[in-house]
Amino acid sequence: MASVRVPHPIPYQGSKRALAPAISRFINGRARTLYEPFAGSGAFSLYASAHGIADRFVIGDCLEPLIELWKLIVENPSLVSSGYQKIWEGQRIEDIFYFNTIRDKFNAGRDPILLLYLVARCVKNAVRFSKDGRFTQSADKRRLGMHPDKMRNNIEGASSLLRGRTEFFCGDFSTCVSSAGPDDLVYLDPPYQGTTYGRDRRYVSQVETSDICETLKALQLRDVSLLLSYDGMTGDKKHGDDLPSELNLKRFLLNAGRSSQATLNGENAITVESLYAWGHMTQSAALSPSLDSSHQVTLSIV
Ligand SMILES: C[S@@+](CC[C@H](N)C(=O)[O-])C[C@H]1O[C@@H](n2cnc3c(N)ncnc32)[C@H](O)[C@@H]1O
Repeated sequence: MASVRVPHPIPYQGSKRALAPAISRFINGRARTLYEPFAGSGAFSLYASAHGIADRFVIGDCLEPLIELWKLIVENPSLVSSGYQKIWEGQRIEDIFYFNTIRDKFNAGRDPILLLYLVARCVKNAVRFSKDGRFTQSADKRRLGMHPDKMRNNIEGASSLLRGRTEFFCGDFSTCVSSAGPDDLVYLDPPYQGTTYGRDRRYVSQVETSDICETLKALQLRDVSLLLSYDGMTGDKKHGDDLPSELNLKRFLLNAGRSSQATLNGENAITVESLYAWGHMTQSAALSPSLDSSHQVTLSIV
């Protein structure tokens, strides 16, 4: 497949931007609708649209201002670009109070364009929320966040990929995919276990393995093909439970590169992510000779 530059307006830690080409190797044919119920930065939907993997898209997430931001990016890109530029230009690198003022404003009014600025400027682009849903992450003191010119290009690019063929859903993943049928494909990327607990949580909501399994079973009963990024390993540290064998998922291991946390700790650990596949729209990429060598894949069946 020819390489196409895919725009990314929301710089979100945990984005599947780098792994999207490897994940797409597991898709067989073109889906009528691609559902991404844990969309975050929507990296897989953007990749899929740029590469003709689906005709239509459903972008879902339980974080309401994020879905509002997506709607605006797609349907009113110039409003988001100008709003972001105005906020970005108001800051000075030495003035950390500016970020905190914007954060307070966001926490009071949940304005989606303020959220875009917070995500772009915060430490490691890693969102953190308190139990009551307030954004708690701090400013990265060494950089100002994506330049408005680059942001404008990304926003316009994302809008032209998704405009007129995307629906937005704010709420729980299980409801988001309830209308998917046999010609559709569902790509799920729930929060890793362990990332949603503790004092400041990475995402506003937590997802139990049992709830994921229930939704997978419901999809299988309707013959809806699915791909799921779930557990993983960094070095010899495993994240997440195994999924039950009765789901008959095929499990592939994708090399996600060196973990940034491990690099910070001076370690050399590579992160390996599991991708689970089920259904007629998915295929064994391990059998594909053209697989990108930077994302080696090994096949095992659970
Ligand atoms: C691992 S991130 C997804 C990252 C995404 N694949 C990307 O490329 O940016 C998980 C996302 O799921 C959302 N989320 C958490 N619990 C959810 C739930 N129960 N239903 C829907 N979305 C949920 C979070 O707000 C977060 O944006």
